[in-house]
Amino acid sequence: MIKTIGVVTPGGDAPGMNTAIRAVVRTAIFHGLRVMAIERGYAGLIGGDIHPMDLKSVSGIVNRGGTILHTVRCPEFRKKSFRKIAARQIKDHGIDALVVIGGNGSLAGADQLAREYGVNSMVVPASIDNDIPCTDSTIGFDTAVNTALDAIDKIRDTAASHERIFIIEVMGRDNGFIALEVGLGAGAEIIMVPEVKCDFERVCGRIKEGLDRGKLSSIIVVAEGVCPGQNLAEFIRKKLKVDVRVTVLGHIQRGGSPSADSRAVACKLGSAAVELLLKGQKNKLVGMISGNVTPTDYAKALRIKKTIDKSVLVLAEKLSI
Ligand code: F6P
Repeated sequence: MIKTIGVVTPGGDAPGMNTAIRAVVRTAIFHGLRVMAIERGYAGLIGGDIHPMDLKSVSGIVNRGGTILHTVRCPEFRKKSFRKIAARQIKDHGIDALVVIGGNGSLAGADQLAREYGVNSMVVPASIDNDIPCTDSTIGFDTAVNTALDAIDKIRDTAASHERIFIIEVMGRDNGFIALEVGLGAGAEIIMVPEVKCDFERVCGRIKEGLDRGKLSSIIVVAEGVCPGQNLAEFIRKKLKVDVRVTVLGHIQRGGSPSADSRAVACKLGSAAVELLLKGQKNKLVGMISGNVTPTDYAKALRIKKTIDKSVLVLAEKLSI
């Protein structure tokens, strides 16, 4: 029987995490459960940075970016000796199950805690990267994309005025989910993602074709995992003798008030995680597939790699000739 749940937000923050925390806490209290906040992700779990929450702890956060529970990257959690300490803290604080709101690293940690020490949990997928399998969208992805689009719309104004080429570097170390969605929506002439071999000559060829057709400004969206935007800019300048500017959007993509979509997903999945625990389910990634809450076993989720839809690259190029 579950009487107390712990809630934690490890890894990179994402807009909508607070909305999800609120959904977890309010659903749990609605059902008469106790809720413990675990501060600073898995590091706080190891350090016992844990305290009770009540209805008021989550007042006024439905629209706030970031995470009120704070977070730090915690490489120590990859070591079993530290996970053992975390499991002991969970027991000592009377926590029966965790709701982990986070990304792939959080999922791997929750799975290890379950297999090694029998710590039961649910993972609610939250990451601006949208690289978590078994869910169509992650909490924060839609907001990050809209933030980047808003920035690029502004940059496009000055790109057009000055007849310049702009390279916009967006987040995405290992994947191009953000770059793809942002590039398509922003009408970018070129989108570069880590999943496709980077070819500077081809980029120059496309810009040249555009220039020859009278296109005087171009937007290139590049995921950070491809190459630093400055390297590409240098190459284009030398090759085509044109004016190029680089904007690195960086962490502005992680902040800000969550969009309607990020809030809705956060409310539904955060609440569902608690409801599923109460129904006796455990150790599942609680995703949203085709509008339905869909729990998937950790073991299955960890075997799947979510991949980008490369046909979007072709579509974006077709639409930006
Ligand atoms: O995973 C989210 C993310 O924002 C990635 O897109 C990015 O590569 C990384 O985190 C940056 O991490 P940090 O804020 O720790 O530098």
